[in-house]
Amino acid sequence: MNRKEFIFRNTPLYKLDSFKTNNIYIKRDDMTDPVCGGNKARKLQYFIEEILNNGHNYIVTYGSKESNHCRITAAFASKYNIPCTLILAKPERNMEISYNGNYFLYDLLDADIIWSEVDNVSSIIDETMEKLGLEGYNPYFIPGGGHGPIGTHGYVKAYEEIENQRKDLNIDFDYIFLASGTGTTQAGLVIGNKLYENKEKIIGISVARKEERGKKVIYDSVCEYIKAKNIPLDISEDDIIFLDSYIGEGYGDIYGNVLDTIKNVAKTEGVLLDPIYTGKAFYGMLSYLENKNLKGKNVLFIHSGGLPLVFNYTYKFKDNK
Ligand SMILES: Cc1ncc(COP(=O)(O)O)c(C=O)c1O
Repeated sequence: MNRKEFIFRNTPLYKLDSFKTNNIYIKRDDMTDPVCGGNKARKLQYFIEEILNNGHNYIVTYGSKESNHCRITAAFASKYNIPCTLILAKPERNMEISYNGNYFLYDLLDADIIWSEVDNVSSIIDETMEKLGLEGYNPYFIPGGGHGPIGTHGYVKAYEEIENQRKDLNIDFDYIFLASGTGTTQAGLVIGNKLYENKEKIIGISVARKEERGKKVIYDSVCEYIKAKNIPLDISEDDIIFLDSYIGEGYGDIYGNVLDTIKNVAKTEGVLLDPIYTGKAFYGMLSYLENKNLKGKNVLFIHSGGLPLVFNYTYKFKDNK
């Protein structure tokens, strides 16, 4: 199976006009297929390849009511005519589930949904897989967020794409910034950077985890990948830069600077960021560069997608006026 059938083009990489202190470039991974795209599509294309090549005929995965990973899983599944069940963590009691954003798209794409208490997720996954097997399916479980070496591979390959685009532009990057959650995206980029023996710093802006745990999880993903692929790479935990200073009150805390950054980038560059991941990371990047008084550096920002999330939080923008 040719992966071009899953994601149809290289995503654009170009310089933004409105930032003068440093040369800020953007990698538009919000422009992958399918259905609003994003970094999860880079990972999921390899899971889908595995599923199709091994005769699986049912997909199960796990996430939240607003998961970009679940949205893109549902989109791939429906494109390849494979039934799909999303096991979703039940929101806190009394929290209204708005028929919007990714949740709306799950429904549009006809994914089946099973709600689960967070503590019961692994038993619900086991039960679902067993039930599908008894019904005669050959189901495949995709780990939440596309975690694991298959997902990491998506960003090792993305790094290769960036490397070719960088060479075409005839520049070296000093920094690459991205929103980091489960860390698989960052793990893939760190591996790519070592494979090409490049020198730029890859800086993950945490959207949830504290530095110690975040770094460890990324390092574990790196080690797992290197072992699975049997590549002799020397990477230590100190090679991983993971900043937890821009999380705010925690995952999903959308504070004023993030909203202002989203508005500014949309107005000046025509590029829409989301409030949970890329808006926070872009704000973190600008603050980092300013706080360190960095000037004239070549900086790449990975736009990892997540655009449907904007529409869940329009009230935040209205309140921020
Ligand atoms: C839009 C977006 N950006 C970044 C991330 C973080 O990716 P990772 O989990 O690989 O760190 C996610 C994860 O959910 C995401 O949806």
